[in-house]
Amino acid sequence: MKLPIYLYGHPVLRREADPIKEDSAELKTLVDDMFETMYAAEGCGLAAPQIGKSIRLVVIDADVLGDDYPECKGRKFALINPEVTVLDGEEVSRNEGCLSLPGLSEKVNRVEHINLKWLDEDMKPHEEEMSGFLARIVQHECDHLDGKVYMDHVSTGRRLLLRGKLRNLTEGKVRCDYKVKAASRR
Ligand code: NI
Repeated sequence: MKLPIYLYGHPVLRREADPIKEDSAELKTLVDDMFETMYAAEGCGLAAPQIGKSIRLVVIDADVLGDDYPECKGRKFALINPEVTVLDGEEVSRNEGCLSLPGLSEKVNRVEHINLKWLDEDMKPHEEEMSGFLARIVQHECDHLDGKVYMDHVSTGRRLLLRGKLRNLTEGKVRCDYKVKAASRR
């Protein structure tokens, strides 16, 4: 089932999400629904707060970026309670977008190399070193679980320029091809 995506400005995107304690049929259904929602919106990552659930769950399918970023090829997974550790301080600036901020894309500095620990949908533990754009997607999605969005990494001056567009998102004045939910409507 496709779910509405909550837009920038909605308080659920600012909450620190709760850890998931156990697997359940509901959790597996939610993972399926989040993949379906993400594919319909043509995204490559979606975090549970973006569909209004304040829990530590992320889905990623980065395969579509595989031609430009080989590290993304074939990478599809659900991350439960993910933990990112920075491996070194090397940072790269690249454009990012977010399904909660349709129509916007900004350059964001992120570290290139991370170690990621997570549980899969059967609560089985995994650990892997990741780099490049895959590491970027993981950092972007894990930010959502801590109540952050990529715009928080953008300079104050740039954000000031985008003020009107960000206000429109908060008010739901946005055109996009998927169902969204705004903080307020006029
Ligand atoms: Ni996002």
